[in-house]
Amino acid sequence: TVADLQGLKQGQLKLSVITTAKYVIPRLLGPFCQRYPGIDVSLKVTNHEGLQERLNDNLDDLYILSQPPVTPDVLCHEFLDNPLVVLAPMNHPLALQKNIPIERLNGEPFIMREPGSGTRQAVQKMFEERGVAVKVRLDLGSNEAIKQAIAGGLGISVLSRHVLTLDGWQSQLTILDVEGFPIPRQWYAIYPSGKQLSVVAQTFFDYLLNEGKQAIESSTKIYQQQE
Ligand code: PGA
Repeated sequence: TVADLQGLKQGQLKLSVITTAKYVIPRLLGPFCQRYPGIDVSLKVTNHEGLQERLNDNLDDLYILSQPPVTPDVLCHEFLDNPLVVLAPMNHPLALQKNIPIERLNGEPFIMREPGSGTRQAVQKMFEERGVAVKVRLDLGSNEAIKQAIAGGLGISVLSRHVLTLDGWQSQLTILDVEGFPIPRQWYAIYPSGKQLSVVAQTFFDYLLNEGKQAIESSTKIYQQQE
Protein backbone atom coordinates (compact mmCIF):
# COMPACT_ATOMS: atom_id res chain seq x y z
CA THR A 1 0.00 0.00 0.00
CA VAL A 2 0.98 3.64 -0.24
CA ALA A 3 1.37 3.81 3.53
CA ASP A 4 3.91 0.95 3.44
CA LEU A 5 5.91 2.73 0.79
CA GLN A 6 5.83 5.94 2.79
CA GLY A 7 7.01 4.01 5.85
CA LEU A 8 10.04 2.88 3.89
CA LYS A 9 11.33 6.42 3.62
CA GLN A 10 13.56 6.65 6.62
CA GLY A 11 16.49 8.71 7.68
CA GLN A 12 17.56 12.24 8.39
CA LEU A 13 16.80 15.33 6.34
CA LYS A 14 19.23 18.19 6.86
CA LEU A 15 17.91 21.59 5.83
CA SER A 16 19.22 25.09 6.17
CA VAL A 17 17.09 28.13 5.45
CA ILE A 18 17.52 31.91 5.51
CA THR A 19 15.90 33.76 8.39
CA THR A 20 12.80 34.83 6.48
CA ALA A 21 11.99 31.25 5.42
CA LYS A 22 11.78 30.16 9.03
CA TYR A 23 8.32 31.71 9.08
CA VAL A 24 6.98 29.10 6.68
CA ILE A 25 9.24 26.06 6.33
CA PRO A 26 8.56 24.70 9.85
CA ARG A 27 4.85 24.78 9.08
CA LEU A 28 5.39 22.66 6.01
CA LEU A 29 7.32 20.10 7.99
CA GLY A 30 4.25 19.16 10.04
CA PRO A 31 2.25 17.55 7.25
CA PHE A 32 5.43 16.23 5.65
CA CYS A 33 6.56 14.41 8.80
CA GLN A 34 3.06 13.06 9.35
CA ARG A 35 3.12 11.55 5.92
CA TYR A 36 6.65 10.16 6.38
CA PRO A 37 6.99 9.23 10.04
CA GLY A 38 10.39 7.62 9.45
CA ILE A 39 11.99 10.91 8.47
CA ASP A 40 13.72 13.07 11.09
CA VAL A 41 14.55 16.65 10.26
CA SER A 42 17.36 18.89 11.32
CA LEU A 43 16.70 22.53 10.44
CA LYS A 44 19.28 25.29 10.65
CA VAL A 45 18.21 28.94 10.37
CA THR A 46 20.85 31.49 9.42
CA ASN A 47 21.32 34.61 7.31
CA HIS A 48 22.44 34.66 3.69
CA GLU A 49 26.13 34.68 4.51
CA GLY A 50 25.84 31.82 7.01
CA LEU A 51 23.87 29.80 4.52
CA GLN A 52 26.48 30.35 1.82
CA GLU A 53 29.13 29.04 4.19
CA ARG A 54 27.09 25.94 4.98
CA LEU A 55 26.66 25.35 1.26
CA ASN A 56 30.40 25.74 0.66
CA ASP A 57 31.10 23.28 3.46
CA ASN A 58 28.47 20.86 2.10
CA LEU A 59 26.77 20.53 5.50
CA ASP A 60 23.13 20.03 4.47
CA ASP A 61 20.95 18.20 1.94
CA LEU A 62 18.97 21.24 0.79
CA TYR A 63 19.29 24.99 1.20
CA ILE A 64 16.55 27.59 0.97
CA LEU A 65 17.58 31.13 0.11
CA SER A 66 16.64 34.17 -1.98
CA GLN A 67 19.84 34.85 -3.81
CA PRO A 68 21.32 31.71 -5.32
CA PRO A 69 25.04 31.79 -6.09
CA VAL A 70 25.69 32.45 -9.78
CA THR A 71 27.51 29.26 -10.65
CA PRO A 72 26.70 26.07 -12.58
CA ASP A 73 27.65 24.13 -9.43
CA VAL A 74 24.19 24.38 -7.90
CA LEU A 75 20.76 23.31 -9.06
CA CYS A 76 18.25 25.93 -8.25
CA HIS A 77 14.43 25.79 -8.17
CA GLU A 78 12.23 28.75 -7.45
CA PHE A 79 9.21 27.91 -5.31
CA LEU A 80 7.64 31.01 -3.77
CA ASP A 81 7.59 34.82 -3.89
CA ASN A 82 9.35 36.60 -1.05
CA PRO A 83 8.51 40.32 -1.50
CA LEU A 84 10.34 42.89 0.63
CA VAL A 85 8.04 45.58 2.01
CA VAL A 86 8.43 48.86 3.92
CA LEU A 87 7.18 48.38 7.48
CA ALA A 88 6.21 51.21 9.80
CA PRO A 89 4.32 51.60 13.06
CA MET A 90 0.53 52.01 12.67
CA ASN A 91 0.68 55.67 13.70
CA HIS A 92 3.41 56.66 11.20
CA PRO A 93 2.59 59.92 9.35
CA LEU A 94 2.86 58.12 5.99
CA ALA A 95 0.68 55.17 7.04
CA LEU A 96 -2.42 56.24 5.13
CA GLN A 97 -0.73 57.79 2.08
CA LYS A 98 -0.83 56.21 -1.37
CA ASN A 99 2.04 56.18 -3.90
CA ILE A 100 4.61 57.69 -1.57
CA PRO A 101 7.62 58.88 -3.66
CA ILE A 102 10.73 56.96 -2.61
CA GLU A 103 12.61 60.24 -1.99
CA ARG A 104 10.25 60.77 0.90
CA LEU A 105 12.29 58.15 2.81
CA ASN A 106 15.35 60.43 2.86
CA GLY A 107 16.36 61.04 6.44
CA GLU A 108 13.78 58.58 7.85
CA PRO A 109 14.97 56.81 11.00
CA PHE A 110 15.61 53.26 9.82
CA ILE A 111 16.38 49.85 11.32
CA MET A 112 18.68 47.78 9.14
CA ARG A 113 19.40 44.03 9.16
CA GLU A 114 22.97 43.04 10.06
CA PRO A 115 25.91 42.77 7.59
CA GLY A 116 25.74 39.35 5.90
CA SER A 117 21.95 39.54 5.54
CA GLY A 118 20.49 39.16 2.05
CA THR A 119 17.63 41.47 2.98
CA ARG A 120 20.15 44.17 3.89
CA GLN A 121 21.95 43.74 0.55
CA ALA A 122 18.73 44.08 -1.42
CA VAL A 123 17.64 47.15 0.54
CA GLN A 124 21.01 48.88 0.25
CA LYS A 125 21.11 48.20 -3.50
CA MET A 126 17.65 49.71 -3.96
CA PHE A 127 18.47 52.83 -1.89
CA GLU A 128 21.78 53.27 -3.70
CA GLU A 129 20.17 53.00 -7.14
CA ARG A 130 17.50 55.51 -6.18
CA GLY A 131 19.83 57.87 -4.32
CA VAL A 132 17.95 57.48 -1.05
CA ALA A 133 19.75 58.05 2.26
CA VAL A 134 17.84 56.80 5.28
CA LYS A 135 19.13 57.47 8.79
CA VAL A 136 20.18 54.07 10.14
CA ARG A 137 19.49 54.20 13.85
CA LEU A 138 20.13 50.59 14.60
CA ASP A 139 21.44 47.50 12.93
CA LEU A 140 19.85 44.32 14.17
CA GLY A 141 20.37 40.64 13.47
CA SER A 142 16.79 39.50 13.92
CA ASN A 143 13.56 40.07 12.01
CA GLU A 144 11.61 39.64 15.24
CA ALA A 145 13.67 42.24 17.10
CA ILE A 146 13.26 44.64 14.18
CA LYS A 147 9.48 44.23 14.36
CA GLN A 148 9.62 45.11 18.06
CA ALA A 149 11.83 48.12 17.36
CA ILE A 150 9.44 49.41 14.68
CA ALA A 151 6.45 48.94 16.97
CA GLY A 152 8.41 50.72 19.69
CA GLY A 153 8.86 53.76 17.45
CA LEU A 154 12.58 53.53 16.66
CA GLY A 155 12.03 53.82 12.93
CA ILE A 156 10.87 52.04 9.80
CA SER A 157 12.47 49.06 8.06
CA VAL A 158 12.29 46.88 4.96
CA LEU A 159 11.68 43.19 5.61
CA SER A 160 10.15 40.16 3.93
CA ARG A 161 6.36 40.27 3.98
CA HIS A 162 6.48 36.74 5.36
CA VAL A 163 7.68 38.08 8.72
CA LEU A 164 4.12 39.33 9.28
CA THR A 165 2.37 36.01 8.86
CA LEU A 166 0.36 34.39 11.57
CA ASP A 167 1.17 36.28 14.70
CA GLY A 168 -1.20 39.21 14.86
CA TRP A 169 1.31 41.94 13.98
CA GLN A 170 -1.29 43.45 11.68
CA SER A 171 -2.60 45.57 14.51
CA GLN A 172 0.78 47.16 15.29
CA LEU A 173 2.66 47.39 12.00
CA THR A 174 1.62 48.63 8.62
CA ILE A 175 3.05 48.32 5.10
CA LEU A 176 3.85 51.70 3.52
CA ASP A 177 2.88 52.13 -0.13
CA VAL A 178 6.28 53.41 -1.30
CA GLU A 179 7.15 53.68 -4.99
CA GLY A 180 9.47 50.82 -6.07
CA PHE A 181 8.19 48.49 -3.34
CA PRO A 182 7.68 45.66 -2.78
CA ILE A 183 11.13 44.64 -3.99
CA PRO A 184 10.38 41.40 -5.85
CA ARG A 185 12.34 38.44 -4.55
CA GLN A 186 11.84 34.70 -4.57
CA TRP A 187 12.79 31.76 -2.45
CA TYR A 188 14.77 29.02 -4.12
CA ALA A 189 15.55 25.49 -3.05
CA ILE A 190 19.08 24.63 -4.10
CA TYR A 191 21.65 21.87 -3.77
CA PRO A 192 25.08 21.19 -5.25
CA SER A 193 24.73 19.86 -8.80
CA GLY A 194 27.37 17.19 -8.22
CA LYS A 195 25.49 15.75 -5.28
CA GLN A 196 23.06 12.84 -5.58
CA LEU A 197 20.14 13.67 -3.30
CA SER A 198 19.24 11.02 -0.74
CA VAL A 199 15.79 9.43 -1.11
CA VAL A 200 14.68 11.44 1.91
CA ALA A 201 16.00 14.75 0.53
CA GLN A 202 14.48 14.06 -2.89
CA THR A 203 11.14 13.33 -1.22
CA PHE A 204 11.17 16.68 0.58
CA PHE A 205 12.33 18.52 -2.52
CA ASP A 206 9.41 17.08 -4.53
CA TYR A 207 6.99 17.92 -1.72
CA LEU A 208 8.25 21.50 -1.55
CA LEU A 209 7.97 22.08 -5.28
CA ASN A 210 4.68 20.24 -5.82
CA GLU A 211 2.73 21.02 -2.69
CA GLY A 212 4.71 23.64 -0.79
CA LYS A 213 3.30 26.73 -2.41
CA GLN A 214 -0.28 25.69 -1.84
CA ALA A 215 0.35 24.62 1.75
CA ILE A 216 2.07 27.92 2.55
CA GLU A 217 -0.58 29.98 0.83
CA SER A 218 -3.39 28.33 2.71
CA SER A 219 -1.61 28.83 6.02
CA THR A 220 -0.96 32.53 5.34
CA LYS A 221 -4.34 33.30 3.79
CA ILE A 222 -5.63 35.08 6.87
CA TYR A 223 -3.00 37.76 6.58
CA GLN A 224 -3.28 38.15 2.80
CA GLN A 225 -7.03 38.70 3.09
CA GLN A 226 -6.55 41.59 5.47
CA GLU A 227 -4.13 43.42 3.23
P1 PGA B 1 18.57 37.18 5.23
O1 PGA B 1 17.90 36.47 4.01
O2 PGA B 1 18.07 36.47 6.44
O3 PGA B 1 20.05 36.94 5.00
O4 PGA B 1 18.23 38.62 5.18
C1 PGA B 1 16.75 36.90 3.42
C2 PGA B 1 16.97 37.10 1.95
O5 PGA B 1 18.10 36.96 1.44
O6 PGA B 1 15.94 37.39 1.28
